[in-house]
Amino acid sequence: MHLLKTLTPLALLATTASAVGNAIVTNNCKDPIYLWSVGSSVFPKHTIPSGANYTEPFRHDDTSGGIALKITRTDNGLYDGSAQLTYSYSLDGEQVWYDLSSVFGDAFAGDAVVVKPESEGCGSICWAEGSTPGGSQVKVCDAEGDVGLVVCAEGC
Ligand SMILES: *[C@@H]1O[C@H](CO)[C@@H](O)[C@H](O)[C@H]1NC(C)=O
Repeated sequence: MHLLKTLTPLALLATTASAVGNAIVTNNCKDPIYLWSVGSSVFPKHTIPSGANYTEPFRHDDTSGGIALKITRTDNGLYDGSAQLTYSYSLDGEQVWYDLSSVFGDAFAGDAVVVKPESEGCGSICWAEGSTPGGSQVKVCDAEGDVGLVVCAEGC
């Protein structure tokens, strides 16, 4: 009896966790791009070939809170000072907050970059010429749907 009471909340948690959507990064550029998923630690580099996706289920990091998907156009870009596009998100219960920012310049200057949620009624972020308007553009959506970033998108 006591055991059952203990197990029930865990089972509920597991159900909630499996209903989480994905952060998807689509490389629509002609050349590969390079991605590092960064929370309290840096995951190994992912190379995303032209036309391919990187997908990770939204995750929560107890130490950093949010996750940053750092993207460069050069192989060792995270470590050589290359321009980085950062798609950051923060899973907060049933919601996910997301934002787009640049450091060391605009990695996709001249090309559109778009963050678009799958669920209707949530905000999207679009830089028509790949350059940051500056400041935060944080949007929020339900965490059950995917939120995709497309680089070298066709437009806003
Ligand atoms: C990449 O993700 C998008 C958005 O979810 C999807 O429409 C597309 O089919 C995926 N492409 C590949 C190559 O998996």
